[in-house]
Amino acid sequence: MKIVMIGAGYVGLVSGACFAEFGVDVAVVDTDPAKIEALKAGRIPIYEPRLDHLVDDNAREGRLTFTTDLDEAMQGAEAVFLAVGTPTRRGDGHADLSYVFAAAEQVARAAKGPLVLVTKSTVPVGTGREVKRRVKAVRPDLDIAVASNPEFLREGAAIGDFMRPDRVVIGIEEGEAGARAEAVLKRLYRPLYLIETPIVATGLETAEIIKYAANAFLAMKISFINEVADLCEKAGADVQQVARGIGLDGRIGRKFLHAGPGYGGSCFPKDTLAFARTGQDLGTPLRLVEATIAVNDSRKLAMADRVIAACGGSVAGKTIAVLGLTFKPETDDMRDAPSLEIVPKLVAAGAIIRAFDPQGMNFARPLLPAAVHYANNALDAVAGAEAAVVLTEWNEFRNISPEKLAGAMSGRVMLDLRNIYDPAAMREAGFIYSSIGRP
Ligand code: UDX
Repeated sequence: MKIVMIGAGYVGLVSGACFAEFGVDVAVVDTDPAKIEALKAGRIPIYEPRLDHLVDDNAREGRLTFTTDLDEAMQGAEAVFLAVGTPTRRGDGHADLSYVFAAAEQVARAAKGPLVLVTKSTVPVGTGREVKRRVKAVRPDLDIAVASNPEFLREGAAIGDFMRPDRVVIGIEEGEAGARAEAVLKRLYRPLYLIETPIVATGLETAEIIKYAANAFLAMKISFINEVADLCEKAGADVQQVARGIGLDGRIGRKFLHAGPGYGGSCFPKDTLAFARTGQDLGTPLRLVEATIAVNDSRKLAMADRVIAACGGSVAGKTIAVLGLTFKPETDDMRDAPSLEIVPKLVAAGAIIRAFDPQGMNFARPLLPAAVHYANNALDAVAGAEAAVVLTEWNEFRNISPEKLAGAMSGRVMLDLRNIYDPAAMREAGFIYSSIGRP
């Protein structure tokens, strides 16, 4: 079986490499020649654990190829996946679908025979139908079935998420075209039947909404626990115990109840916004989603004030170590990271910032103020600092002992926005320690 994956970004690369690992021939197509050349030479443009090995192995076996030539890639392919970006459109918060439509029309022009066109990109409800309409406008003769197959990959855990998913969602059209698409997709995902993965087969619109509803619900859980954390601080309670106490109720679930500086990344901020816009457009405002967004936006802004308050009301001229810049660990992704809100505010307030991130510093540099100093490791970042702030919960930060941190720093203020340290141990080491939602 052969498929084409359009888009050598995060989703396209991970999905392409994983399908190849399932034994499928995958041609990954991208319009960026530099990216394709790099991939051919074995260089992966993103950091994702194990992805380099997976790409290497499957490229060597000849199952995974990279090209800019769509016509050539489509020779003999049974299905084409769209895994291009759907960024937030400037001005109105809607998802920008221009890459999706452009790719679909190119596929239409290049198609030689019957085709299944699958959207993997996150797209608002109604996009599948619009893709079909546009393809038909270019090629009325073409026998095409469109399908929606959203991904639920977490950065840093994407390969495991692809290989052992909680479920696979397949959205298909009615009639013969839908049946054909369903058969092709079920064949592709056959290896997952062995591990009894539920396959949720739905209509196109339903699958499109499942993706946004899933991300919005998870974002809502995070904003909920973040507000409860604020309450815990005022009331002298411990949000981690609250999260455990409610999360053990199977109806609630334990995951995504870690309080922190607010969610970021390439999906939650963009998808909650687009979902809220869809609700407004269809005359059914999603008020909980709108509140989730508002809570998160104001939270990120409030975090810099927290740092300033922890430093006694002013950071002017003070050296502050920032541990972690990426939106979460095990990624080099800086998109919508809380650090992008917090660090510039601290610099504007006169702080001297010494930052360290294990993977994200190259991407952070152009996005953060030029005055930020970048350290070689965590201990180098805290050396001589009056205060330290944990922004991302990298394991290597957890493993540094409080005594070592205290020994390197000149001051004793520690603001742990990810709750990675034990409050008692930190205080014992002499720190004026504060974290999120804990007494
Ligand atoms: C997310 C979804 O999990 C995934 O299914 C979807 O396909 C893409 O978006 P990702 O953005 O990679 O994945 O990261 P995730 O691990 O979900 O974290 C998102 C953000 O929420 C991060 O900023 C993280 O720090 C924050 N978060 C997560 C919390 O603050 N608390 C939590 O309990 C969980």
